[in-house]
Amino acid sequence: MTGAKTTADVQLTVGEQYLALETVQATAGNHGIVMAPLNAQTGMVALDPGFLNTAACTSKVTFIDGEAGVLRYRGYPIEQLAGESTFLEVAMLLIRGELPTRHELEAFEARIDKHMYLSDDFRQIFSVMPRRAHPMATLGAAVNMMAGFYPESLDPLDPAAINLATALLLAKMPTIISYIYRRAQGNALLYPQHGQSYIENFARMTFQLPGERFEVPEVFYRALDTLLILHADHEQNCSTSAVRMIGSARANLYMSVSGGVSALSGPLHGGANEAVLEMLSYIRDSGITPLDFMTRVKDKAGGLKLMGFGHRVYKSYDPRAAIVKQHADAVLEALGVRDELLDIAYEVEQVALSDDYFIERRLYPNVDFYTGIIYRAMGFPASMFTPLFALGRLPGWIAQWREMVADPSGKIGRPRQVYVGPGLRDYVPLAVRDPR
Ligand code: ACO
Repeated sequence: MTGAKTTADVQLTVGEQYLALETVQATAGNHGIVMAPLNAQTGMVALDPGFLNTAACTSKVTFIDGEAGVLRYRGYPIEQLAGESTFLEVAMLLIRGELPTRHELEAFEARIDKHMYLSDDFRQIFSVMPRRAHPMATLGAAVNMMAGFYPESLDPLDPAAINLATALLLAKMPTIISYIYRRAQGNALLYPQHGQSYIENFARMTFQLPGERFEVPEVFYRALDTLLILHADHEQNCSTSAVRMIGSARANLYMSVSGGVSALSGPLHGGANEAVLEMLSYIRDSGITPLDFMTRVKDKAGGLKLMGFGHRVYKSYDPRAAIVKQHADAVLEALGVRDELLDIAYEVEQVALSDDYFIERRLYPNVDFYTGIIYRAMGFPASMFTPLFALGRLPGWIAQWREMVADPSGKIGRPRQVYVGPGLRDYVPLAVRDPR
């Protein structure tokens, strides 16, 4: 655990017992109370379902101020990075902690370029997955399989192995995702081309049709790069916590990241971008108004939620959503796409932002609300939205995993519980408790 500890400046009284607890001072945001002595000294545990109050670690990677709508990677505001940086530069920043020099960035890009290729054996795995499989199921399996294909990069205590696994994951993930899409489409898998940029290679391997030149406007690449930057890290979210938890058992990076892919697939997390599009399509196709839909949401009928709204940490406008919204119109126009779902989304947002239910609960659009509309305009089907999120989040997962394994005070993740089940009772054999 890093961060300056202060001497016992929090007092906690538990029954007759008096505990003086140390704090860790944050450089920004919430300070932490060190709860380690609680169990040892009182026999009690902190009960905090969903970790609403619990910091699982100290971290230097990403800072969020949910009240003010602030997001920074390694201190740099997301607005500046999204406007001026590139995805691979941001990946380096997250993973190493500092921005690279030009030479370092070019060397890193060259290393990624070198590794984008997948061997024919690896390519086989896409043909055994059912075409109907959800892309996130195949993605999780493929990332797990990397542990089998690259055994020289597994040791979580060897810096060279970690660097190799980092490069292999970043390099092969776009190829894997493009193959998942092509397999579902029934199209042949293409090879990466050396010298093409990361984003160009990904887009071409995904969309190029046999015998056709692949040409998209520059705005396509820039928008995709920006969306990946916006997703690149988000501190201790569900999938990142899963990656850290798995890695805390000294599982290798691939298997840890595969766990992150699984967590991300859930509709309350990364799967929300797909759910948003389904929701907007439903409003359009069923002919109900956004206002009517909102009434149903507020009635909580069948647990209906306004997908793409609300966030555990942001209690104001998600800064990533603000950037995506700014771009949505321009990107669609440049791509020559007119999408009525965007108009419905604007209307839904308008209704929500002026409705007491959403105002009182401080529910604003999150990053997933507008991303799907841009991905759709680019030609991605809804089932590919969450894999795109995973590609974006990959540097964050890697950076957080690396921070965790490098922490000398790190411990295996192992929450406690408050047991509320039956007390001690004796087993009664089946023949006695339910005689024939
Ligand atoms: N639509 C309607 N009501 C909502 C929504 C929503 N999207 N989100 C929260 N609420 C309501 C809850 O029903 C609850 O109401 P109550 O006080 O009357 O019981 C209140 O707001 C607080 O919500 P919680 O569920 O306690 O908030 P929590 O922090 O646990 O959940 C979450 C955050 C999961 C993101 C939630 O807002 C949600 O389900 N949103 C929709 C799914 C979504 O967009 N997920 C993507 C999140 S961003 C990301 O992962 C990239």
